Amino acid sequence: MSNIVITGANRGIGLALARLYRDRGDNVIAVCRDSSGELDALGVRVESDIDVTERDSLSDLAGRLDDVAIDVLVNNAGVMRPTSFDDIENQLDAFRLQFEVNSLAPLRVTRALVDRLGRDSKVAIITSRMGSIADNDSGGHYGYRMSKTAVNMGGVSMALELKPRGIAVGLLHPGYVRTDMTGNTGHVDTEESATGLIQRIDELSIETTGSFHHANGEQLPW
Ligand SMILES: NC(=O)c1ccc[n+]([C@@H]2O[C@H](COP(=O)([O-])OP(=O)(O)OC[C@H]3O[C@@H](n4cnc5c(N)ncnc54)[C@H](OP(=O)(O)O)[C@@H]3O)[C@@H](O)[C@H]2O)c1
Repeated sequence: MSNIVITGANRGIGLALARLYRDRGDNVIAVCRDSSGELDALGVRVESDIDVTERDSLSDLAGRLDDVAIDVLVNNAGVMRPTSFDDIENQLDAFRLQFEVNSLAPLRVTRALVDRLGRDSKVAIITSRMGSIADNDSGGHYGYRMSKTAVNMGGVSMALELKPRGIAVGLLHPGYVRTDMTGNTGHVDTEESATGLIQRIDELSIETTGSFHHANGEQLPW
């Protein structure tokens, strides 16, 4: 039984990850701002009132998990806001929010909890192929794309940073998933996405640290 910490676990992909890890017998610690009926119904440990962009929240979380040896930390919380070239001056708050949540928070959460991680622990960052420069053939979505490109770079640096401690870091694209973020459009449901993500996290090792994969197993270009 592994100790699995998941951010953004009250809905969407994070909720599905919590459910599937619970179903296979792992000890899930679901981190969120506000819990949900669906999350409460899972019967897992819930740590609420945690905003991943707030310093006090992060130190609070580290304190609450003081006695937990974390095997897997999944940095899943994320936001998507519309941004465009033409309207950039009116959308600076949206750009900044996406950098705060999507780029900086995975680094900050991992830093806050790093003392609870040990040799053979794993850190997964739920990024997006929309952050892939090589894969960008349709443009737009400036703030979201840039924030996910930035977290990809941060993830690779963390992989190098944490390798001597035996901690592996994986960057994972969940697929195009039917959640609130996509207005419930997409190619797969949260269960299929989470099933693939868990397989990828199981496969992640210190040899493959710093890699970027689709939940379906495909290696993605930077
Ligand atoms: N769905 C897709 O097709 C898709 C594709 C590529 C990548 N992704 C990535 O997958 C991850 C999960 O997305 P999703 O589709 O499940 O989205 P979602 O249904 O909109 O859920 C987003 C989650 O992030 C949490 N969150 C946002 N800001 C937060 C903050 N400041 N502090 C704490 N939690 C915060 C939300 O909590 P609240 O309920 O409190 O807002 C919610 O639990 C994200 O990183 C997203 O970028 C999704």
